[in-house]
Amino acid sequence: MTAIDAPTELPLNLHEYEAAARAILPPMVLDYISGGSCDEVTLRANRTAFDRWRLLPRVLAGLREVTTTTTVLGQEIAFPVLIAPSGLHRLAHDEGELATARAAWSAGTIYTMSTAATVAMETIGREGGPWWFQLYVFSDRAITRDLVERAAAAGAAALVVTVDVPLLGRREADERNRFTLPDGLTLANLHAPRHRFIPSSDDGSGLNTYIGATWEPALNWDDLDWLASLSSLPVIPKGILHPADAARAFDHGARAVIVSNHGGRQLDSAVASLDALPAVVAAVDGRGEILLDGGIRRGTDILKALALGARAVLIGRPTYWGLAAGGEAGVRHILELLRAELALDLMLCGLASPEEVTRELLVPADTLISDGTKSPSPGSTGEGLG
Ligand SMILES: Cc1cc2nc3c(=O)[nH]c(=O)nc-3n(C[C@H](O)[C@H](O)[C@H](O)COP(=O)(O)O)c2cc1C
Repeated sequence: MTAIDAPTELPLNLHEYEAAARAILPPMVLDYISGGSCDEVTLRANRTAFDRWRLLPRVLAGLREVTTTTTVLGQEIAFPVLIAPSGLHRLAHDEGELATARAAWSAGTIYTMSTAATVAMETIGREGGPWWFQLYVFSDRAITRDLVERAAAAGAAALVVTVDVPLLGRREADERNRFTLPDGLTLANLHAPRHRFIPSSDDGSGLNTYIGATWEPALNWDDLDWLASLSSLPVIPKGILHPADAARAFDHGARAVIVSNHGGRQLDSAVASLDALPAVVAAVDGRGEILLDGGIRRGTDILKALALGARAVLIGRPTYWGLAAGGEAGVRHILELLRAELALDLMLCGLASPEEVTRELLVPADTLISDGTKSPSPGSTGEGLG
């Protein structure tokens, strides 16, 4: 094959996937996916939090190979990365959530379906598994109950309850763009037209108008008990940052929690999820598994989250980048890149499996100054050092 015939080269890493997606997606879609709330302080903090930790590898471990396999709530997965719930995948690729789910399964992991999916949960359930269903609680409790019961009947293996959206965070790009869904796309898990369509709005984001009119702002701990009682699905609250909330969730039927700030899209200036993790782990004290999302882009990010006590991590925006660049194959490649990076990083750390990752692997970058080791300059992302 001559150089001219050579296929277009695949992106080498998730950052290149983001660049590819930026070249493909229309500006309104790109803004919806990429953006955070307000000044995007938390969005940036989610990434820089990883750079404040360095790895302290062990050598001469005598490993010929490593495994990335682990379990989450007893489910074996090929590596500790799941697809985070995120809405409206058909904005990025025609096959939408179906492509995402198939990619997750062929990569050996769990797909989490958003309430705000553009493909119905029954379609996903007929297609395969494992998948979890993420619930937004509607003020109309009959709709909420229906969603939970249908998810259980369709084969979901867990119920992720998102608790950090009493109201939508201020996503100013979506306001400016008057964000709405293009013709032909609907919220496929909902039946009534009032719930199925995102209205166009002359006054800001249609998503904001929709959520303000339909979702329950006053969710409380009793609701969590109620949701746990609706089915036998394990309940996993998502969007917890405070250690006391994490501990309390286990008093209200939670089987795991997801430490998350919604990818910096809700409360701006909220703590980075990686920074919140150690106190959550201490407060939960082994009562259940702790997952984390926000800013995971590299195998070493996964290692750092595991070292601070996460059982597994989830990815949000990279799913859209994979969808935009290559549909199902793109999302699968994103997952494969992360798995391959994690396998290499485990080997380079002298660790045979995710189970062997402990807090001892980490050194805070700022403690490296005193012994003469070069530390990142202020404001540096740390990327490219060494
Ligand atoms: C475009 C977009 C849509 C999202 N939709 C949902 C959703 O429907 N439900 C939910 O619980 N979280 C949603 N999230 C948040 C993700 O589940 C996750 O918390 C976040 O994206 C993780 O950060 P990351 O994008 O840096 O990986 C969404 C995030 C993005 C970027």
